[in-house]
Amino acid sequence: MANKNKKQQTELDKIVSLCKRRGFIFQSSEIYGGLNGAYDYGPMGVQLKNNIRDLWWKEMTQMHDDIVGLDASILMASKVWEASGHVGNFSDPMVDCKECKSRFRSDQIDLDAPCPNCGAEDSFTEPKNFNLMFQTSIGSNSDSASVVYLRPETAQGIYVNFRNVVDSSRVQIPFGIAQVGKSFRNEITTKNFIFRSCEFEQMEMQFFCKPGDDEKWFPYWREQRMAFYEKMGIRMDHLRWHQHGPKELAFYAKDAYDIEYQFVEPMKWQELEGVHSRTDYDLTQHSKFCGKQQDYLDPVTHERYIPYVVETSAGLTRNVLMALCDAYDEEILHTEKGDDLRTVLHFHPRLAPVTVAVLPLVKKDGIAELAKEIEMELREEFTTFYDQGGAIGRRYRRMDEIGTPYCITVDYDTKEDNTVTLRFRDSMEQVRVPVSELISTIKAATKNYKRK
Ligand code: GAP
Repeated sequence: MANKNKKQQTELDKIVSLCKRRGFIFQSSEIYGGLNGAYDYGPMGVQLKNNIRDLWWKEMTQMHDDIVGLDASILMASKVWEASGHVGNFSDPMVDCKECKSRFRSDQIDLDAPCPNCGAEDSFTEPKNFNLMFQTSIGSNSDSASVVYLRPETAQGIYVNFRNVVDSSRVQIPFGIAQVGKSFRNEITTKNFIFRSCEFEQMEMQFFCKPGDDEKWFPYWREQRMAFYEKMGIRMDHLRWHQHGPKELAFYAKDAYDIEYQFVEPMKWQELEGVHSRTDYDLTQHSKFCGKQQDYLDPVTHERYIPYVVETSAGLTRNVLMALCDAYDEEILHTEKGDDLRTVLHFHPRLAPVTVAVLPLVKKDGIAELAKEIEMELREEFTTFYDQGGAIGRRYRRMDEIGTPYCITVDYDTKEDNTVTLRFRDSMEQVRVPVSELISTIKAATKNYKRK
């Protein structure tokens, strides 16, 4: 008998289960019961994450000649975080349930209602601020001088290197510095899979400009960032802007917008990236705390000023979840043997962890060797996967589930006329293509890719 109380699987549950089944994302330390708020990226997941990171990096540093790259360390002097305000202010108000000891963000629950975990009445402690930074120590002595924090954002690594980059790179204002890397926050709310985790990756860019010119660069970067998601092949009707109201806006910020994405059930609209007009706040703070002016001398006008900053700040791991939610689809196929469910990830070919799968129809008569040879040739250009095990239909389905946009089948005709079958993931259309034209055909299909 079906269990009436069995919870209905949400779309998100299905994606979490696909991620584990197909090697995208695993819970950290799973064999020890798992660690909350931390995740491991499997063979498919790491490739998807790297592809998103590479697209962003190319977009920022290669397609914009006024942006340079940086890779700052995760551990930085504690003074950095005093200057930025993170030591004093980077906290969430928390309450504990006195009965079950669960901890909640006091701004996310009704404090007059029973505990959402155990149902106890009047069981909450007074709200207390809880700093989100992870603290550790460096060196062998454990006095307070050696306290360091795992960075809660990559942006400060950019600010503290502003002068280094200006002095070493011939950049002139306006210019930007881009960085991708790990950030850490001791988040209590770690539901919704990798959406909000304690260890995550950010893709941030700080654009330095003359005070006043931020009025021009702020809308420019908002427009650029939204256009990036279109290039990534994300459905534009699932993206929207949210402007920060006076209560959300940091006290130093002039303006701020979030790009929100409509994630699958039960998440719905959530922040994906922030575009912030941060004025000269961070560089001014670092000037005060380090005692050296973090300013800029205009080589033409000889004006000296602390630049204003427009920041674009996207979560890389959050982008991975967005790409998975956007791509996930279940289709009913009407076949001769009856209806069949196809689970497919409609990734843009540039995001897909595997671009081309090469599948010999049979293993014998030299077909497998020929297929392997073709795969070796394609490897130079694309991420490939060779699979000779199981029925061809089942092999296609495995590739659909990881979002492989192109499958190549090698058969007896290949030996005769040097052609293969090229199958397109979305339409399942199959065409015969000469082996010599495979690379150009796949490249053209990727360039012209449009999701139906
Ligand atoms: N430097 C500005 C900054 O860090 P933020 O709004 O706190 O701004 C920017 O973070 C982006 O980083 C968010 O839009 C989100 O994509 C990502 N992010 C922040 N906290 C996260 C977390 N705990 N887990 C995953 N991604 C996170």
